[in-house]
Amino acid sequence: MRTPILSYPTHAHGRRETSPATKAGTVTGWSSRAAFIAAAVGSAVGLGNIWKFPYMVGANGGGAFVILYLAMVLLVGLPILIAELGLGRTGGAAVTRTFGRIAHELRGGHLWNAVGWLGAATAILILSFYSVIAGWALAYAWRFSLGSLQGLAAEDYSARFDALLASPAEMIFWQLVVLGAAAFVASRGVRAGLDRAVRWLMPVLAVLLIGLGIYAAIIGDAAAALHFMFTPDFSALTPEVALSAAGHAFFTLSLGLGAMIAYGGYVAEDVAIPRAAGWIALFDTLCAIAAGMAIMPIVFGFGLDPAAGPGLVFVTLPVAFGSMPGGALVGTLFFALLVVAAMTSIFALIEPMAASLADGEADRRKWVIRLTALTAILGLISVFSFNIWSDVRPWGEDKTLFDWLSYLTTEVSLPFGGLCVAIFIGWVAPRKTMEHMFDSHFAFKLWLLSIRYVSPIAVIAVFTHLTIG
Ligand code: PFF
Repeated sequence: MRTPILSYPTHAHGRRETSPATKAGTVTGWSSRAAFIAAAVGSAVGLGNIWKFPYMVGANGGGAFVILYLAMVLLVGLPILIAELGLGRTGGAAVTRTFGRIAHELRGGHLWNAVGWLGAATAILILSFYSVIAGWALAYAWRFSLGSLQGLAAEDYSARFDALLASPAEMIFWQLVVLGAAAFVASRGVRAGLDRAVRWLMPVLAVLLIGLGIYAAIIGDAAAALHFMFTPDFSALTPEVALSAAGHAFFTLSLGLGAMIAYGGYVAEDVAIPRAAGWIALFDTLCAIAAGMAIMPIVFGFGLDPAAGPGLVFVTLPVAFGSMPGGALVGTLFFALLVVAAMTSIFALIEPMAASLADGEADRRKWVIRLTALTAILGLISVFSFNIWSDVRPWGEDKTLFDWLSYLTTEVSLPFGGLCVAIFIGWVAPRKTMEHMFDSHFAFKLWLLSIRYVSPIAVIAVFTHLTIG
């Protein structure tokens, strides 16, 4: 007799797996709905919101980019977020088996597990450079806390940043501290590790973000920042901008690599997935806007350049922190905020592989240690790209190995993973997989329409543009 779709074989591939239906009562799942939402928001809010979003707004014409980004989150991000969380809850957190379990009635259904493997591998590759950047943030928090970045001349700030990039030993050191802390938490498991950590890290993040936003409004030029972020200059709306907004919607919601599938695998049956997804997307967006409002008033108030690109946070902002009253404290808190945001995202980057490889919570420690060691080794590619390998540009002069790694993972693999999820859940998986998660038939229909047509078409547009254009 075939196993019905909503009750799963407990001995899939010889591993003992907890059925998602019974997970609520065991110690493997999230302790509450709020803890789940905190963890998912923690995954979503990261370097993407606080480092990347403000500089993308700055470089892409301000308000026009903000509007497009909001539209992309709503039209493409939210439906796929609902799909990933639902996939996880139905098929389990082990992303390399989730797809096959849902499509087990289909011939060759297990081949869809390749999507899970691709995602989990992409997550480790992203982690290898994400943790390097988180390491820079930690180095800066440390330096500001020592007061060693106060009162320098403006050009000294870029010299300091260049010196960090020129030193492999320093970068490796800070990256290892970040990865070590993340491994410590992740190895303790979902309930005793991730759940507990996000329950106190997320309030810290909220307080820091709000506090810094208020201070920025007082000390900087809030009116100019508001004008810049919310007055759309429609002449800046090019297809380029639309597509980079779509790509960023993916990255910021942690979609396309299985993180949200894994997190969905630990959710109790009584949590309404579509509503939770709405909260996650809303909080993520609010945090991106709040980060912009913590940074832009300072940029304008101190006469700095909002379009400074990736160096905005590590070069431009320190110039302002270095000269403002209380700058050592503000600088320390700002970079601490960046570290906290990155840390809760790193948990989610480890999870797809950890959940897939570890055979139960007891086995987790071993796998988390192996995965972080592997990540640190892969991280050397990024570290060396800024110094001893800076001339290694195998495919074209404009991209280092770091640039390639970041491009192929976030701009190619993520949209591709998202497209596969949309096609799988919209066209391949049995309709009942998701239908029962919606409390209104209309909402289900609307979601189905987006996941079958709107999201795939938008992703294909991003994908073809990024690979061909
Ligand atoms: N959402 C994170 C950010 O905006 O920084 C990045 C990220 C985290 C992507 C976790 C994917 C992921 F699984």
